[in-house]
Amino acid sequence: MSSIKEKIDKTRLPKHIAIIMDGNGRWAIEQGYDRIFGHQNGVTSVRETTEAAAEIGIEYLTLYAFSTENWSRPQQEVDALMELLIDTIENETPTLNKNNVRLMAIGDLSRLPGNAAEKLQRCIAVTSENTGLALVLALSYSSRWEITNAMKQICTEVQEGKYTIEDITDELISGHLTTKSIPDPDLMIRTSGEERISNFLLWQIAYTELYFTQTHWPAFRKDNFYQAIYEFQQRERRFGK
Ligand code: FPP
Repeated sequence: MSSIKEKIDKTRLPKHIAIIMDGNGRWAIEQGYDRIFGHQNGVTSVRETTEAAAEIGIEYLTLYAFSTENWSRPQQEVDALMELLIDTIENETPTLNKNNVRLMAIGDLSRLPGNAAEKLQRCIAVTSENTGLALVLALSYSSRWEITNAMKQICTEVQEGKYTIEDITDELISGHLTTKSIPDPDLMIRTSGEERISNFLLWQIAYTELYFTQTHWPAFRKDNFYQAIYEFQQRERRFGK
């Protein structure tokens, strides 16, 4: 029996896959647990997906782990999520290193509480020489925040005489986003049935293929990830041409 992984053409892999990990809360409530239980089980899906991406040879995997809007959730849930995120990052650092995975982060990291930012930076530093998969965590991220920030920076640089208005191009704007060293996603996946982008990588997804699945994030496994890649490969990308 051939598996979905074997059906994937390894010569035409998406370079960068971004995921909106949705449905932790619904998955948990459906089973009679509280929302935090869903986030805890979401960690298993993060591990599985990272492993799957590394195994098949994806270069960049970006996970929407915490949005700017998520700061408005009940304090108890925010605290639990932060703790879970940071504990996971800390605990998984040796495994990331063992698997040659480089951790990166995008977002307004100055809003992370206490020593969370410090722990995150430590893991980023410790894995920075790895040459395999780049695992990009979007933390306290929103696209409008990122674009606003880039606009402010560019305006300041124009005022300082570093650029003229004519110098403002697609490339210059891309180079002022937090994703400046990362290629645009080829494929964006959203789990749990919602078909919207929710302020994620708005500039970067101009030509990205979108893939929506009903599966809740805590139930998402390697084969769900491979299925998305397989379906991506059945599409024709024309980039507006
Ligand atoms: C969306 O589900 C999920 C999140 C807001 C957080 C995702 C976080 C994790 C999977 C934890 C671990 C992550 C890493 C990177 C270690 P939701 O709460 O919006 O679910 P709902 O739409 O059903 O309410």
